[in-house]
Amino acid sequence: MIPRSPRMASLKTSPASILAKQARALRATGRDIILLSSGEIEFPTPPHVIEAGLRAAKAVPVGYTNVDGSVELKEAVRGKFARENNLCVGLEELIVCNGSKQVMFNALTATVSPGDEVIVPAPYWASYLDLATITGAVPVVVDTSAASGWKLTPHDLDRAITQRTRWVIINNPVNPTGGVYSAAELRALAAVLQHHPDILVMSDDLYEHIIFDETEFATMASAAPQMRERTLTINGVSKAYAMMGWRIGYGAGPASLIADMVKVQSQSTSNASTVSQAAAEAALNGPQDEIARRQTLLATARAHVVDAVAKIPGLSMRSPAGTFYAYISCEQLLQSSAALGRGWRTDADLARFVLDEAGVVVLPGDDCGLSPFFRINFGCSSSLLDQALDRIARAVEVASADGLDDSRLETT
Ligand SMILES: Cc1ncc(COP(=O)(O)O)c(C=O)c1O
Repeated sequence: MIPRSPRMASLKTSPASILAKQARALRATGRDIILLSSGEIEFPTPPHVIEAGLRAAKAVPVGYTNVDGSVELKEAVRGKFARENNLCVGLEELIVCNGSKQVMFNALTATVSPGDEVIVPAPYWASYLDLATITGAVPVVVDTSAASGWKLTPHDLDRAITQRTRWVIINNPVNPTGGVYSAAELRALAAVLQHHPDILVMSDDLYEHIIFDETEFATMASAAPQMRERTLTINGVSKAYAMMGWRIGYGAGPASLIADMVKVQSQSTSNASTVSQAAAEAALNGPQDEIARRQTLLATARAHVVDAVAKIPGLSMRSPAGTFYAYISCEQLLQSSAALGRGWRTDADLARFVLDEAGVVVLPGDDCGLSPFFRINFGCSSSLLDQALDRIARAVEVASADGLDDSRLETT
């Protein structure tokens, strides 16, 4: 028998990746499936970035870079932090990884002992829990409330801290709700952490550039400079430049932490792809106007989703201030006689129905720690989004018409 680490018992595969795989399998059987559960944004990689990648791919040999990233890319990252975040960082305070997920993995591996706690505000990006688990820590989920816009408050944070707390994860803008923490809100959280000098902050800023209505982006290390010495600021090119598959993320933090993270990476994956690093360097150093143009396109898509959802009985949502996700409440729908008639209890039941009936894959809120909701991605083409929203509306209509059948109600 193949032995199994005890850690595997609580480790889950990323829900979004499972759904994406299922969608591909269904497509292979000829079904017309629209995948709205993924974290991918449907824009092309900018041409000058592709060119830089191609040039790097033609080098002989395509060699390794330093484990922590090429000096050129680290200089570009340093420039980005100075230009956009008012953060002045040295090269020894930077690491480049295979996506921001690996930045988190390295950081947790380098710092946690078994049983150490990692505070994760809910709703969350599901991987935070598993990243904590796989590295031997215990994820401590802290529920947030609608009143705070589903954001962590100083009160929530204070109550969640124990002797074992090692990290607090702050994702801004928040996947899945699209909430955005202001500088003042971050400073209020920092004020709580002032009393706990051993707690580190992981600031996941991956959606920094997917932000609307001129909302100001803030990050902990610059909003509360006294936190800099214990904050790991994480970002990457996946969302800002639609470069998910290139797998480049980076982190800025205290030099001693970064040195340990580099050690972890040196014995796992070594450097991130040399070709992708050259492309990421071009993305960070090149023209940035495409970011604003894409923000405008995404803001239009967001308005469209908000309008469409408002017309679907039983569904409701808040307009997200950032990200390309709509986090849609299905509470009313699940309480309707239609839902009762169908025996639906959870957002996962609804998600299954939407897939079967409409061929649209959505991410159940259960996977994000707040139910009953589901998340859809509006970072896709407007025609696909239109089609998906139409199909969801029709599926809900079918459910409502069928569910009102009294005989069904009696049998459940
Ligand atoms: C909040 C958040 N952080 C991090 C990541 C990981 O991104 P990557 O590893 O591509 O940089 C994702 C991906 O969807 C995300 O949603």
